[in-house]
Amino acid sequence: DKAGYKHFMAKEIAEQPTVLADALRGYLEDDRISLPGEELDFTKVERLTLVACGTAFYACLTAKYWFEQLARMPVEVDVASEFRYREPPITPGTVALFVSQSGETADTLAALRYCRDKADKIVSVVNVAESSIARESDLALPIHAGVEVGVASTKAFTCQLNVLLLLALKAAVDRGHMTQEALSETLSALRALPGILNAAMARSDDIERVARQIAEARDVLFLGRGLMYPLALEGALKLKEISYIHAEAYASGELKHGPIALIDKTVPVVVLAPRDALFDKSVSNMQEVMARGGKVLLITDAAGAAEAGQDVWQTIVLPAVPSVLSPLLYAIPAQLLAYHTAIAKGTDVDQPRNLAKSVTVE
Ligand code: F6R
Repeated sequence: DKAGYKHFMAKEIAEQPTVLADALRGYLEDDRISLPGEELDFTKVERLTLVACGTAFYACLTAKYWFEQLARMPVEVDVASEFRYREPPITPGTVALFVSQSGETADTLAALRYCRDKADKIVSVVNVAESSIARESDLALPIHAGVEVGVASTKAFTCQLNVLLLLALKAAVDRGHMTQEALSETLSALRALPGILNAAMARSDDIERVARQIAEARDVLFLGRGLMYPLALEGALKLKEISYIHAEAYASGELKHGPIALIDKTVPVVVLAPRDALFDKSVSNMQEVMARGGKVLLITDAAGAAEAGQDVWQTIVLPAVPSVLSPLLYAIPAQLLAYHTAIAKGTDVDQPRNLAKSVTVE
């Protein structure tokens, strides 16, 4: 049931504020993070290994930044298809964590089985609670996204991010890198996030206007730094999946090491850059793009828009949020941009060609 929306994808994008609010309630007892099922004590964890495919892999990549920054924990991240055949050494003290919407992705399941007798604990972050990956884990953490029908993952991605952020915050507190006061502050920002996501949804018409022009492009680049780098990867994946436009993402600092050769006036460059500690660096990368005739679509907040200069082709302005929450917010315009571009191109957004919702063969 599309509940009045034209596509499941549109419905699932719009549902995010509600499902995130519900999901959060499932993990909080007042201002304490409480995991469903068995407790996970991060003081005993030396290293985290995160494994997934596709969008779930980008959620893991985001989580690496959170676990490292907030909890000072060593984290490895890999795509399941590489991880399983590389057979990496898993040393004592390792918790292996698998992220999967369906819980049935063949490569992710095989990677989990590889870790079975090697890791201290197998944890999964899943949407389908009765799935193989959930069943074969010591601890399965539900993301509470509800059924996701659209082949391109949207609400599952932000709900995965939500659980991973809560885990990183718990790790930060367990390991003495975050006070209860700082945690309470972040949690209240997280509780306010659904309202802010709705404000971002209200940019949908602006995004639709830009998307009509993006739909003319053959190639699109996405750039981001820090927490916005994995999101740039996710934005590019979403765009190519449903609009069939070739899209690539790079860490902004990598631009001058090759991809800048691609820039000309036919290549829109989407820059994801809230006004955070890395903003000045992103601006200088953006200027390098504009100096070569590249058209920059800047997604930022009001402070970022004010500082970005006049030469930016298009700007989408989002509410300002604490840096740590920016991936959850910036996912919305990334999804809407892909959606509206695909609509402008007339592709089948819910059933993109060549793709299946659940990849149960490798
Ligand atoms: C992208 C997308 C895929 C999945 C990937 C993993 O929009 O949906 O990249 O994220 O196939 O699937 P799960 O999460 O079910 O393991």
